[in-house]
Amino acid sequence: MMIVKPLMRGFISLTSHPVGCEKNVVNQIEYTKKKGLVSGPKKVLVIGASTGFGLASRIVSAFGSNASTIGVFFEKAPAEGKTASPGWYNSAAFQKEAAKAGLYAKSINGDAFSDEIKKKTIDLIKSDLGKVDLVVYSLASPVRTHPKTGVTHRSVLKPIGQVFTDKTVDFHTGKVTTVSIEPCVGDDIENTVAVMGGEDWQMWMEALLEADALSDNAMTVAYSYIGPQLTEAVYRRGTIGKAKDHLEATAFKISDLLKGVSGKAYVSVNKALVTQASSAIPVIPLYISLLYKIMKAEGIHEGCIEQIDRLYRERLYTNESVPTDDKGRIRIDDWEMREDIQARIVELWKQAETENLSEIGDLEGYKSDFFNLFGFGFENVNYADEVNEMVAIDNLV
Ligand code: NAI
Ligand code: NA
Repeated sequence: MMIVKPLMRGFISLTSHPVGCEKNVVNQIEYTKKKGLVSGPKKVLVIGASTGFGLASRIVSAFGSNASTIGVFFEKAPAEGKTASPGWYNSAAFQKEAAKAGLYAKSINGDAFSDEIKKKTIDLIKSDLGKVDLVVYSLASPVRTHPKTGVTHRSVLKPIGQVFTDKTVDFHTGKVTTVSIEPCVGDDIENTVAVMGGEDWQMWMEALLEADALSDNAMTVAYSYIGPQLTEAVYRRGTIGKAKDHLEATAFKISDLLKGVSGKAYVSVNKALVTQASSAIPVIPLYISLLYKIMKAEGIHEGCIEQIDRLYRERLYTNESVPTDDKGRIRIDDWEMREDIQARIVELWKQAETENLSEIGDLEGYKSDFFNLFGFGFENVNYADEVNEMVAIDNLV
């Protein structure tokens, strides 16, 4: 038992609150349940299922469509006096809620990039579910050890060809400063593509197909981001953008592979949101704080659960063909990218400085979302209470 307080190191908190994380999961479940059932997937594999968009995908599959789910993630277990990573507590809460609702759910904690975890997952699908009809690929990682070469690749978030200089905010202090990021060097692009591109997604789908673990008409979806011109040099036209280009191109390759089972691969372009992954990208927090302010004022703000709920109900499972853009991508960043919204961000961006950001931007909303990631800042959680940090995940295989 311990009292858990945030312990900040750089862009993350080293601690997370088990009760707050549970609250976060329960809130998301409530959101999707209120919307009623969608005739969505029935047997789902979520790779990257413990936080962010992947967790929301698992929740909408299970509680929005009564699906059996297998979730794969890479999270730190608790030790006496040391809390687990948030995704651990989220998954423990998910398993608990799924059991209460009578839903099949099992979880695997390990490196999804490895052959070993792929095999373990596919064995579990074969023995428990037979086949899956949806595979959600939602990994965000800074490193990948390649299963064939043994080389460990590290991704970088850098511009290509020129130094990038623009405003950024330290969202803890609210201080707006100018940041310069040196362009990538050497094998930075190849390494970033190796980690965040589509190769591992394709490996998963090949292995699933090989094992006859995909239903007829199975779908797979991976998540991408485009974003505005403001962040283009560091995001979409930077090293990470090259990886996203590769991921998006891989969807077509996978669709070809899946022809035999009449399956299809999609990339969904999602909205910018506060997650552990996005907090580490310079410039993005300032952009998100302005974006949140404007989208909330317009009544069109969404978090992960709202985004994924809309993805299922209004894109993937409508009984009509899946609407895509001219590059075959699903767009649930449509409200973020609305011309009027972006035009206002450009204006506010010019004005943004330490003195006015708390007025013109939603710094409070940013911070609150950030602390929520670690289970902090929830109503009806008494943070002065001692809590049990040694939470186990039921049905962890
Ligand atoms: P996240 O950091 O919340 O989730 C990452 C997930 O991957 C976690 O479940 C984690 O346990 C798992 N993971 C990481 N390394 C692993 C490994 N080696 N083996 C097994 N599991 C591993 O990230 P988020 O933001 O939900 O990102 C998911 C996808 O959505 C990414 O492709 C990201 O680029 C994309 N996206 C994110 C946006 C954002 O603003 N956060 C916007 C649009 C797309
Ligand atoms: Na995720």
